[in-house]
Amino acid sequence: MSVTVRVPAKVNVQLAVGPLRPDGFHDLANVFLAVGLYDVVTVTPADELRVTCSGPDADKVPLDDSNLAARAALALARRHGRDANVHIHIDKDIPVAGGMAGGSADGAGALVACDALWGTGASREELLEICAELGSDVPFSLVGGAALGRGRGELLTPLETGGIFHWVFAVADGGLSTPAVYAECDRLRADTDVPAPEPSAALTAALSAGDAAALAATMSNDLQAAAVSLRPSLAATLDAGTRAGALAAMVSGSGPTTAFLVAGEAEAEKVADALRDSGTCRAVRVTSGPAPGATVLRG
Ligand code: C5P
Repeated sequence: MSVTVRVPAKVNVQLAVGPLRPDGFHDLANVFLAVGLYDVVTVTPADELRVTCSGPDADKVPLDDSNLAARAALALARRHGRDANVHIHIDKDIPVAGGMAGGSADGAGALVACDALWGTGASREELLEICAELGSDVPFSLVGGAALGRGRGELLTPLETGGIFHWVFAVADGGLSTPAVYAECDRLRADTDVPAPEPSAALTAALSAGDAAALAATMSNDLQAAAVSLRPSLAATLDAGTRAGALAAMVSGSGPTTAFLVAGEAEAEKVADALRDSGTCRAVRVTSGPAPGATVLRG
C-alpha cells in the first residue's frame, strides 16, 4: 500500500521584500504562481523513516532529516502520536536549489501523502499550519494556483487568474542559498530606507485578467539584484531571453533559475531555443501556469 502525490513548482511574479525582522526573516508581499513542473512524492510503510530520490538532479537532494519531506512526515507523526516509519520516494523534476520551491514542494507532498496513508484526517488548517512551520514557501506548494503571501510568505490569500501564462525557465549551474541571497539583499540596501512591502494592484489585476503583457509590465523581484550580485553570469541569461522576445525576464525567487514570461507556445519555443543556443544555462524548461497544488494521484 502506498500513496503518491504530485506537487508543482512556483515562480514569484512579485517579490517585495521589507526590512530584516528581529527573527531573521523579512516581511514580504509575495505573489506566487504555481507552474506545471512537478515533483512526485510516494510514501510507503517501512521499518524506519527513509528518503530516496530519482531524476536528473537526484544526487543534489539531501536524503537526511534536513529534507523537508522527512521533516513533514516527522511533524505530522509527532502531532498525532505515532511513528514516522515510511519510505518517502521523491521523483524530482523541479530544479534543485533554484528558487522554484522544489524542497517546499516535497515537504507539502510528503505531508499530504502521509496524511492519506496514515488516515490522520488532518484538517486543511492543520496541514497549512505544519507547512508554515516547515518553511515560508511550503503552504503555497500545498494550495497551488496563484496566491498572495504576506508575513514571511506563509499567510496566503488566493488570487484569481483569468488565463494561462506561458513561461520558459533557464536552469543555472549550481544552486544559490536562500539565506545568502536575503543577506546580500540586506547588504545592498544597507543605506536605504526600505519601505513596508505592498502588493501591486496592477499586477493582481493583470493576473485576474489573464493579460500576459500587463503582467510582464508589473512583475518585480526585490531579490533579483542580490541574486545577480552573487551570480553575475545571470545577467547574460536574462539578456538572452529578452533579446529573443520574452515579455519579461526575471530571476525566479532567490534564483539562480531565471524565468521568462512569453506571449504563447510559439514564443516559448523561440525563447527556449535562444536560451539553449546562448550557452548561458544548464537546461531550459517550457511550461505554463497556474498549476494545481498538491494532488493525490494514487492511494
Ligand atoms: O522559511 P524558509 O526556511 O524557507 O527560509 C529560509 C531562509 O530564507 C530564512 O532562514 C531566511 O534567511 C530567509 N527568508 C527571509 N524572509 C522570508 C523568507 C525566508 O529572510 N520571508
